[in-house]
Order: sequence, then structure tokens, then C-alpha cells
Amino acid sequence: MAKIKLGPQSLLYPMPALLVGAQVNGKPNFITVAWGGIACGDPPMISVAIRHTRHSLKGILENKCFSVNVPGADLVKEVDYCGIVSGAKVDKVAACNFKVTTGKLCGAPLIDQCPVNLECELYHTIALGSHVLVIGRITETHISEDCLTNGRPDVTKINPLIYTTAQSEYQTLGDVVGKAFSVGNELKE
Ligand SMILES: Cc1cc2nc3c(=O)[nH]c(=O)nc-3n(C[C@H](O)[C@H](O)[C@H](O)COP(=O)(O)O)c2cc1C
Repeated sequence: MAKIKLGPQSLLYPMPALLVGAQVNGKPNFITVAWGGIACGDPPMISVAIRHTRHSLKGILENKCFSVNVPGADLVKEVDYCGIVSGAKVDKVAACNFKVTTGKLCGAPLIDQCPVNLECELYHTIALGSHVLVIGRITETHISEDCLTNGRPDVTKINPLIYTTAQSEYQTLGDVVGKAFSVGNELKE
């Protein structure tokens, strides 16, 4: 199959649609972030890429902590809203009707309506260009009881949102196509 070169692009799938929370000027604020992912397993760490100009970044740097909230597909409008308006101008919590709670880290507001919430201590920041890579150590994980199956997180119940760059759309997960750490055994001699 012929390939077309697109030049250097940040093209990687799937990108999660996350709501990153921070206390900015004493108020909880949430920014939609698609450029995020797990950075380390032990200790558990996550990274999110945030533009220097974002209102949320101020709060993360000030309080040295933040939250990563995983919204379900039912929150698609709220996710998009938090990605098109700035907390510098509007109260996104009020507009989205978010019920905000706090865990151990008071600067890391948690959205009750999101099935998964990660509390993060700021570990490191790296200014890479347009974005600052914000690395957080996950200090606590909250999950809605109804998103568990046999006591384990069930992604079909969490029903997370995927953001697609080129189409600029939100999607949900697709089919299971294989068992991890297992289906590859079929190619062993
Ligand atoms: C789907 C989607 C994904 C986004 N991903 C990012 C991202 O990864 N990093 C970033 O800095 N901004 C991202 N944005 C833009 C911010 O969410 C947006 O500028 C927001 O209004 C900033 O909020 P704040 O000023 O309250 O921090 C994204 C927006 C959308 C709609």
C-alpha cells in the first residue's frame, strides 16, 4: 500500500478526552485535554501537554497539584464546552453543573459526574515549545462503584471519550479484538 508523507505531525491514536482540574485564584477550573497519557507505572505518573497561555496552567503551577477526570460519553457537551471557553472568562463549573469534591489534595478538584478521577501531585514540567509537558504523580484514584465488574474497573461501563484530531470529533471505544499478553502467542514458533 502506498504511503503519503504528512511531515512531522502529532498524529497518534487514540487520544483520550480528559478534563484536567486545578484550583485557579481559589476557584475550581477544568480544561479539556486530549494530549495526555500514562508516563510511568511505579510510581504511577501521568503527563498532559498544556499550552503556556491556558488559565488552568496557572493553577497547576501555583498549587503544585491537579486532577485528571475521565468523563463518560454522557458528558460530551461539557467536555467540548471546557475546551472552547476559558476559565479566565466564565465559571465552567457552574455552566456545566459539575458537582466538585476534593480528595487529599485541596488544589485538585474532582468532578463527581466523571467515573474516574486521578489526584496528582505536580512532579515536573518541561517547556517543549507551544506546550508545557506537565507530569504528575498519581496519589489517589477514585472510581464510581457502578463502573466496576468483579471489583475491577470496567472500561465498557466507564465508556470514555476518544478525540479524533483530523475529523475533530468525539468517539467511544470499539470492539474487543484480542486478549492482551495472549493473542500474540499464536505467532510464536
Ligand atoms: C477536544 C479538545 C482537546 C484539547 N486538548 C488540549 C490539550 O491537550 N492541551 C491544551 O493546552 N489545550 C487543549 N484544548 C484546548 C483547551 O481545552 C481550551 O483552550 C480551554 O478553553 C482552556 O481552558 P482554560 O483557559 O480555562 O485553561 C483542547 C480542546 C478541545 C476541544
